[in-house]
Amino acid sequence: MSKFIKKIKIKKPDDWHVHLRDDDILKKVIKYTGKFYKRAIIMPNLDDPITNCLKSIAYRDKILKSMHVNYKFQPLMTCYLTNFTKPKELEFGFSKKIFIAAKYYPNFCTTNSKTGIKKISNITSVLECMENIGMPLLIHGEEINQNIDIYDREAKFIETTLDPLRKKFPKLKIVLEHITTKESVEYIKKNDFNYLAATITPHHLMLNRNDMFSGGIQPYLYCLPILKKNIHQKALREAISNGDKHFFLGSDTAPHLHKNKINVLGCAGIFNAPSSLLSYVKVFEEMNALKHLQSFCSENGPKFYNMPINKETITIVKKPYKIMKNIKVGRDTIVPFLSGETLNWSLENKY
Ligand code: NCD
Ligand code: ZN
Repeated sequence: MSKFIKKIKIKKPDDWHVHLRDDDILKKVIKYTGKFYKRAIIMPNLDDPITNCLKSIAYRDKILKSMHVNYKFQPLMTCYLTNFTKPKELEFGFSKKIFIAAKYYPNFCTTNSKTGIKKISNITSVLECMENIGMPLLIHGEEINQNIDIYDREAKFIETTLDPLRKKFPKLKIVLEHITTKESVEYIKKNDFNYLAATITPHHLMLNRNDMFSGGIQPYLYCLPILKKNIHQKALREAISNGDKHFFLGSDTAPHLHKNKINVLGCAGIFNAPSSLLSYVKVFEEMNALKHLQSFCSENGPKFYNMPINKETITIVKKPYKIMKNIKVGRDTIVPFLSGETLNWSLENKY
């Protein structure tokens, strides 16, 4: 049926997981998120992480000043939790909407996480406060330990950290970010969607770990959590195909300069802002589930965050859309996901 659909009108989507970085990179990447999304959760893992209200206000201003196209884009800021975060700072920031949520990075789990949390029990008073005020906790869900296989870290995290956390703080609103496994899908579905939800990226829906090694090692497909086996990819694709409210759009667009991707220690992260929305459309079409596109892209997220659903709409049409090869940043470049490839859906207007 859906292969006959040529035009889809939906409420303007929001992206609930975005890395914009700072300075030169920020200036180059921000317009892609603004073009497709009305609001975006801005992740705080800068080289100097966003750990308090003052830093957040300054970063938000910088983001808005970097947007040179006239999009009515709203950055939704988050606080990077450390062992030193003060409940009062979160309470004040949340009440003034300086922070919409706080991000929990396990120590050394990903880009700029060396000041992340070593033991979740170190932040008990912070979590108590967040539960009381209804502030969402956004989690990078991987158990970090050299003895745990990288492919098992997400499933292990549910068992050893997330499930005990849910039991201790049943009313704490939690988003398990960028889920990648069938274990996560099953666990999330079992829980009340007012208190536990998950974002899913376009690359984890479109790819599995074979793709990372197809024809040679592909550093541009290296991200964290790492791509998993195809059975997990399948579980994610099924999870979004029936409109389940637990799951919503979070692209995890994560730009890195070419010199840092192609390096003896290459950075994790996929810059997908130019193609993320149209990639999701492709997956929903393949799953014969276009009727659920709007709930995933534009409704389930705001419902979880208790925010209004956007009034404006966008129209997506069946028309080829070529992704640029790269974006110049000074003397370097950023190579986007699906670089040089053509997707068969586009935005109707330039916006
Ligand atoms: C992200 C980044 O580079 O900031 N990288 C990634 O591979 N997803 C951080 C993150 O979300 O883990
Ligand atoms: Zn991320």
